[in-house]
Amino acid sequence: MNNKPKVAIFASGSGSNFQVIMDASKAGDLHAEIVAVVTDKPQAYVVERATAADVSVIAFNPKEFSSKADYEAAILKELQQLEVEWIVLAGYMRLIGETILDAFPHKIVNIHPSLLPSFPGKDAIGQALAHGVKVTGVTVHYVDAGMDTGKILAQQAIEIVDLDREQTEQRIHAVEHELYTKTLQQLWSR
Ligand code: GRF
Repeated sequence: MNNKPKVAIFASGSGSNFQVIMDASKAGDLHAEIVAVVTDKPQAYVVERATAADVSVIAFNPKEFSSKADYEAAILKELQQLEVEWIVLAGYMRLIGETILDAFPHKIVNIHPSLLPSFPGKDAIGQALAHGVKVTGVTVHYVDAGMDTGKILAQQAIEIVDLDREQTEQRIHAVEHELYTKTLQQLWSR
């Protein structure tokens, strides 16, 4: 098989998806080398996870840059130094801008906790519960300039009848962990 693609994971929160992807790559179940975690939130728990896994952390505060382009250029420089080839978004709470999109054409993927195109953007789980839907799910998709609008790679539906928020979140996270790893395996074994 080819050399393992070098991957950076972008995350702003707990990083449970990072952990599962990292573990799969260390176990040899995922044909990829996770070389960096990029975060806009240096206090996020994902930073601890990355440090424990011996993965480089790239942390910049967007507020310290005069524009999104400058913020992304700083990230890009680090990614290029590490020869990163793919970007995996896992709870990164910002839209990717032109600077990074142009440098990684068709090489950025995201996971979203709904069946897109339903409930894009923030708090997809809350949106689904507020609408009283009986079925929601998880989507893995390529990233384009829109909000959760890129080409869909994989989806899985989840029935949430009679589940409260916590139970719904748990169900969604469990499906995310499986679906993300499986979809990335398929993407990188081509
Ligand atoms: C996931 O629900 C993902 O779909 C969304 O953000 C959440 C990240 O969770 N984009 P975690 O930080 O990986 O635990």
